[in-house]
Order: sequence, then C-alpha cells, then structure tokens
Amino acid sequence: MISWRKHYKQTLIAIGLLLSTSASFYGQDGDPKNGEKLFKANCTACHALDKQVIGPPLKGVVERVKTEGGKDRDWLHKWIKDNKALRASGDKYANEIFEKFNKTEMLQFPNLTEKDIDDILAFTTNPPAPEPEPTATTATDTAAAAPADKTTTNVVIISLLAIAGLLVWILLKLRQLVKLGQSEDLAGLNATRVRSFSEIYEKYHYIGKGLLAILAILATYGIWNWIMWIGVYKGYKPDQPIYFSHKIHAGEQKIDCQLCHSSAKYGKVSEIPSMNVCMNCHRTISEYNAKHYMEPGKDKAFYDGEIQKIYQHTGWDPAKQQYTGKTEPVEWTRIHNMPDFVYFNHSQHVVAGEQAIINSFNKKNPNNKIDVVCKACHGKIDTMNVVQMANDFTMGWCIECHRTTEVDMNNGYNKEYFKNLHDKLKKQYPKDGGKITVDAIGGLECGKCHY
Ligand code: HEC
Ligand code: HEC
Ligand code: HEC
Ligand code: HEC
Ligand code: HEC
Ligand code: HEC
Repeated sequence: MISWRKHYKQTLIAIGLLLSTSASFYGQDGDPKNGEKLFKANCTACHALDKQVIGPPLKGVVERVKTEGGKDRDWLHKWIKDNKALRASGDKYANEIFEKFNKTEMLQFPNLTEKDIDDILAFTTNPPAPEPEPTATTATDTAAAAPADKTTTNVVIISLLAIAGLLVWILLKLRQLVKLGQSEDLAGLNATRVRSFSEIYEKYHYIGKGLLAILAILATYGIWNWIMWIGVYKGYKPDQPIYFSHKIHAGEQKIDCQLCHSSAKYGKVSEIPSMNVCMNCHRTISEYNAKHYMEPGKDKAFYDGEIQKIYQHTGWDPAKQQYTGKTEPVEWTRIHNMPDFVYFNHSQHVVAGEQAIINSFNKKNPNNKIDVVCKACHGKIDTMNVVQMANDFTMGWCIECHRTTEVDMNNGYNKEYFKNLHDKLKKQYPKDGGKITVDAIGGLECGKCHY
C-alpha cells in the first residue's frame, strides 16, 4: 500500500512536471486561452476581433503594427500598458492612430503583466474556433432591495390577515349575541342586560380597543415609512426612460465609471453622460448578444428594443448609417439630489480623497472591499441593473465619514494644499497618535457644506 502511494506521488509529480514544461513551451508566444479571458474582461468594451468597435479590430494586430507602423511586440506592450505615456513620449505611430480615432482615449492597463499581454496577443493572432454559445443566464441576480421589499409586503399581508381574522371573530361573537338575545332561556333577568347596547359594549369593549390598537400600529408604521422616505432616500430606485444596466456596462463589460461620468473628477457634479457618449459604442453595437449575462425575465428582444431607443433619441438611422437630424432629449430621472443649501463636490472626494476613502472603507469592511472610490458612497453600482441609492445621503452620513476617515496628507493635492497646515494639525490633533481625519481639516464646519 505504502509503495503504491509512493508511486502515485511520483506519477503526480511527473505529470506536473510534464504539464509545466509544456506550459512553458506554450508560454513563449503566450497562452491564447488565458488571453481570451483577459481580452473579454478588459478589451471587449472597445475592441472586437474582426470589426471596428471604438478601437480597431485586433485580429492579427501583431502583424498589422509591424507592416503599418514598423513596430514590434515591445511597442505593443508599452501601448497596452500605458498608451498615454507612449503618446506623451512623442512616439509617432502612437500619435497617428490616436488622431485617426478622433482622439478617443484607450484605457490604461498598468496591472497587466508582460505575460498577460503576450497571452492576449496570442489570442488575437490565433483565436480559437468559436465555441457553441453558452445559454446566457446567470441566476445570481440578487438586488439588494429585494429582501427589503419582501419584508414590507410580508408585513402588509400579515396585517391584512390579522384584520380579516379579527373581523370573522367579531362576526361570530355578534351571531352568538343575537342568538343569545333570541333564546328563550334568556328571558327574565339576562334578557334586558343583553339587549342594551351599552351593556354589550361594556362586555366586549376590549374588541373595539384591540381594533383601535391595531389601526394605530398600522398608522404608525405607515407614517414612519413615509417619514423615512422623505428624509432618507436609501433604496430609491426609479425606472428610467431607457433600461440602461450598470451591471451590464460597468460590471460585465467592465467599462470605467469615468468613461461616462467624466466630470466627477473635475467638478461639483458628476453628470449623466450625453447620448453622444452612448453612440461612441452603440453606433456599432445595435444588438444585445448576451454572451455573458441576461437578467432573468428579460430577453434579447427587450434589450435590442432599448438600444433602438438610443437611435430614436439621437436621430440615427442604422440602415443608412447617418443622422436624420431629428433628436429628442432623454429625460433621466435624477436619483441623487442634495437640497440646494448643500455644497457637495465630487472632485474633493474622487481626486483628493480617493485613496483615503478607499483605504478607510476597506479597513471598515474587510469582507466587502472596494476597488473604485465611487462605490464607497454609491455602493456596488456595477452589480445593479437599476441604480438605487445605496446610502442615506443625510448630513449625519457625511459627518460620520468625515469623523472616521483619515486624510491622506501625502497625496500630491493635499501636500500642496495643506503645506503649512500639516505640522500644526499634527500637534493640534494628537488623538489616535496624530491621525488626521477629515474633521481636522474643516470637514465638520457648517460653512464647508452649506452655502
Ligand atoms: C475605452 C476603450 C478601449 C479599451 C477598453 C481598450 N482599447 Fe485598445 N484602443 C482603443 C482606441 C480608441 C484605439 C485607437 C487608438 C486611439 O484612439 O488611442 C485603440 C488601439 C489599440 C491598439 C493599437 C491597434 C493598432 O491597430 O495600431 C491595440 C494593440 C489595442 N488598442 C489593444 C487593446 C487591448 C489589448 C485592450 C485590452 C487589454 C484594449 N486595447 C482596450 C480603445 C480601447
Ligand atoms: C456606459 C456609461 C456608464 C458607465 C460606464 C457608468 N454609468 Fe453611471 N449612469 C449612466 C447613465 C446613462 C445613468 C442614468 C440612468 C440610470 O440612472 O441608470 C447613470 C446613473 C448613475 C448614477 C445615478 C445618478 C443619479 O441620478 O443620481 C450613479 C450614482 C452612477 N451612475 C454611478 C456610476 C458608477 C459608480 C459607475 C462605475 C462603477 C458608473 N456609474 C458607470 C451611465 C454610465
Ligand atoms: C464603452 C462602450 C459603451 C458605451 C459608452 C455605452 N454602451 Fe451600452 N453597451 C455596450 C456593450 C458592450 C453592451 C453589451 C453588448 C452585448 O453584450 O451584446 C451594451 C448594451 C447596452 C444595452 C442593452 C443592455 C442594457 O444595459 O439594457 C443598452 C440598452 C445600452 N447598452 C444602452 C446604452 C446607453 C443608453 C449608453 C449611454 C448612456 C450606453 N449604452 C453607452 C457598450 C457601451
Ligand atoms: C464621498 C461620497 C461620494 C463619492 C466617493 C462619489 N459620489 Fe457621486 N454623489 C455623491 C453625492 C452626495 C451625490 C449627490 C450630489 C448632489 O445632489 O449635489 C452624488 C451624485 C452623483 C451622480 C448624480 C449626478 C450629480 O452629480 O449629482 C452621479 C452620476 C455620481 N454621483 C457618480 C459618481 C461616480 C462615477 C463616482 C466615482 C468616480 C462618484 N459618484 C463618487 C457622493 C459621492
Ligand atoms: C466615504 C467618506 C466620505 C463621505 C460619505 C463624505 N465625505 Fe466629504 N470628504 C471625505 C474625505 C476623505 C475628504 C478629504 C479630502 C482631502 O483629502 O482633501 C472630504 C472632504 C470634504 C470637504 C472639504 C473639506 C475641507 O475642509 O476642505 C467637503 C466640503 C466635503 N467633504 C463635503 C461632504 C458632503 C457634503 C458630504 C455628504 C453629502 C460628504 N462630504 C460625504 C470623505 C467623505
Ligand atoms: C460634511 C458636510 C456637512 C457639514 C459639515 C454640515 N452639514 Fe448640515 N447638512 C448636510 C447635508 C448633506 C444636509 C442635507 C441632508 C438631507 O437632505 O437629508 C444637511 C442639512 C442641514 C440642515 C437641514 C435640516 C436637515 O437635517 O435636513 C440644517 C439646519 C443643517 N444642515 C445645519 C448645519 C449646521 C448648523 C452645521 C454646522 C454645525 C452643519 N449643518 C454642518 C451636510 C453638512
């Protein structure tokens, strides 16, 4: 037995060795299978293999850059990692293709390793034959709102059942009373007692009181709900004129939030993208293929119809491939909306506060970490088909975060901005061993958030 085990182990080791050597043979030009995965995860938002999407088709790109630009693999590595830096370095071909694509920015991929890129290039050089289409459903669609909605409905149903039960009981009691009143046994003493309504009430007053109590409880519940809804919009989730899914765009397609909400970086508002931004992609994406995902209960025809709405609004005629000039604005329902007397600035949080907010959030939620700063306030938007408010967005919510988030004094912005203040603050705020939270830089001053 023992010797069998030994052999078994040796065989395993031998198989392992064999596999690893064959993998390293493969590795010289990259592994197209892994490349396909990476391509789908990172590039399909803008590239297809054999047609132009936002960027050029990438099939055979290694050959193409060699013939068209005289560039080698090394150039491709640099371009894919950080095309911006490559352009900034004055590389002629890089700037040419940028111009050719109307200065549309490709994303940067500093996280891809050299091997990852080789794998992707192997995939674009030798794409495997297409596999049969997987049935496109992922049943893991757990909108956060569902449980809350369910409990509300349950409470209502249980209350209604309780009321119905009570009514039946009262009816039975009344019937008994009437029978009692009619019964001959009750002549004499009892008869007068029972017939008098006030006497009946006295005997059964607790029924009325019980009813009143239940009504009061229901009313309180309703009013409480109503108040919560006025002050706190958490969970607010309106239907939109176009069924635009963040789960599909930001989640499945991994499109960067700031490709659409680009002004978040620069200013006070973060804005809903204009229809032109949609057309950058949807001029070529006129159908939903749902290779990755389809929401239960929806089908391809539904999604295709929603994409058609973009054409209606922009006046694009997909058959003729031209604009007709007839446009209609889309009226998105605004979800987040602070009162006019509040000043909230995205750039303060998305640029200056980015690292501080991500670090602090991940420290507080070790099992639910975020990679993009937006999610600290807006929740996991990339898992939502329909955007819903993920937090209270009340004054208490802002302040709670300012009290507990340590400012990153070393980022470029704050270094410049708080040059002199820094040491003074360190002395002034020795709490937590000199940690400087947002309140220390004025994050609790009324005037900072109120006009
Ligand atoms: C946000 C859209 C976007 C994403 C995502 C994107 N690209 Fe691009 N890519 C472009 C655009 C646009 C161009 C054309 C050049 C330009 O405008 O900068 C381009 C050009 C290229 C080129 C040069 C092609 C040529 O013909 O010279 C390569 C190679 C490339 N992309 C690879 C990739 C890879 C690999 C990925 C995924 C890891 C990727 N791109 C992700 C938009 C994108
Ligand atoms: C392809 C474009 C696109 C991308 C990518 C995108 N969004 Fe959006 N976003 C929209 C559109 C269109 C709306 C308005 C319709 C809606 O509410 O769904 C919107 C709405 C929102 C809203 C609600 C705005 C309001 O009315 O208060 C928030 C918050 C938001 N997006 C955050 C994000 C975050 C965070 C990401 C990245 C994880 C992201 N978005 C990625 C297009 C995009
Ligand atoms: C960076 C590229 C890109 C941009 C910008 C973009 N989309 Fe899309 N969109 C896609 C891709 C990719 C798909 C999925 C196609 C597929 O899987 O077949 C898609 C699918 C859709 C669908 C069907 C699925 C769903 O979400 O309901 C709709 C509708 C849609 N987009 C609307 C919009 C609107 C509205 C905008 C502008 C606010 C927009 N898109 C901007 C790339 C983009
Ligand atoms: C510190 C919390 C916080 C962070 C981080 C944050 N937001 Fe917001 N966001 C808000 C608040 C608060 C509002 C409401 C602003 C208002 O009504 O004036 C808002 C509103 C929005 C809106 C609606 C339009 C508008 O500007 O009022 C969009 C879209 C949006 N955010 C997208 C983003 C994106 C994309 C990111 C990441 C790049 C992001 N947000 C990061 C708190 C945040
Ligand atoms: C997730 C945490 C978080 C939330 C929620 C948050 N903030 Fe902030 N806020 C920060 C951080 C971090 C900074 C410091 C940025 C920096 O490094 O300068 C900041 C800075 C500010 C500043 C500048 C303070 C100064 O003295 O320069 C204002 C104003 C502000 N926030 C307003 C708001 C308002 C209004 C809300 C609620 C609608 C809010 N913040 C919600 C984290 C948050
Ligand atoms: C970090 C940002 C921030 C700071 C600092 C701040 N507020 Fe507010 N305040 C808000 C926000 C956001 C709202 C809106 C809340 C809502 O709509 O639910 C608000 C609402 C209010 C309201 C309206 C009543 C209410 O609760 O809706 C009053 C009054 C108010 N603030 C007074 C103050 C005073 C006084 C100070 C200074 C001690 C102060 N605030 C400091 C963010 C702030």
